[in-house]
Amino acid sequence: MTETTSTFDATAPSFDQYRALPPGVPEAIRTAIFRGVHQQMRVLDLGAGTGRIGKPFVAANDAYVGLDSSWAMLREFLASSPAACLLQSDGQQLPFADGAFDVVMLMQVLSGAQDWKALLLEVRRVLRPGGVVVEGHTTTPPAGVDAQLKRRLSEILREMGVAWHEPQKARRESLAWLEVSAGHRSQVRAASWIAERTPQEFLVRHRTGARFAALPAAVQEEALQKLSVWAEATFGPLDKPYSEEHAFELEIFEF
Ligand SMILES: C[S@@+](CC[C@H](N)C(=O)[O-])C[C@H]1O[C@@H](n2cnc3c(N)ncnc32)[C@H](O)[C@@H]1O
Repeated sequence: MTETTSTFDATAPSFDQYRALPPGVPEAIRTAIFRGVHQQMRVLDLGAGTGRIGKPFVAANDAYVGLDSSWAMLREFLASSPAACLLQSDGQQLPFADGAFDVVMLMQVLSGAQDWKALLLEVRRVLRPGGVVVEGHTTTPPAGVDAQLKRRLSEILREMGVAWHEPQKARRESLAWLEVSAGHRSQVRAASWIAERTPQEFLVRHRTGARFAALPAAVQEEALQKLSVWAEATFGPLDKPYSEEHAFELEIFEF
């Protein structure tokens, strides 16, 4: 692996601390992907990151390759999973032959992809005919603490004149594109759990978000200060915990 820069480099050391999935959830995701499959599948985990979801595949000795443009994210993966087959590369120029994989996983990648169309064209190229693309993401209730704070933060940044991408728009558009070219689309809820959230945790965690952390420090401070005032007026004490149901959902496209 070579050291190049990515917006995820800064967030890599704290990614697992703030964004870990509950025990058993990564294993449930693997089980859901392989349900009904009896032969070994060649799996590409594009945007594998710190291995939050890839580690059970490595532990089970699957034909798994984790690829990411961030060397720092992969270094975290390798530190806890030395047997992992990992590659640093841009997903828009994959170093694989046509049809090299049976399954390509895109876990929490499309919403932040710089050019989702270029990425998906490469995904299609390395997928064998009849192969499967699995997109995965965490869902939270629209009225929950995390979702409300995320929406309000986007509004604040827009009011401040900050060019802020719309993650859900990119995800929606890319899934629609996949649906048009796929033969079949299905949705699977791989796991759900009750998460305890406080507004304070969101404020702390968001500082470490890859795109937010790339904004100028003064912009980050002003936005979080405004969000903190709004959160206190909306939720009361910032350390008050709220229970909400989170889930990990898969969109499965068969080609
Ligand atoms: C939100 S993280 C998710 C990591 C992992 N899939 C997970 O769910 O824990 C998104 C990852 O996608 C990677 N990524 C984004 N665009 C990429 C691209 N064009 N090529 C390769 N990796 C990319 C980032 O570097 C980052 O590690």
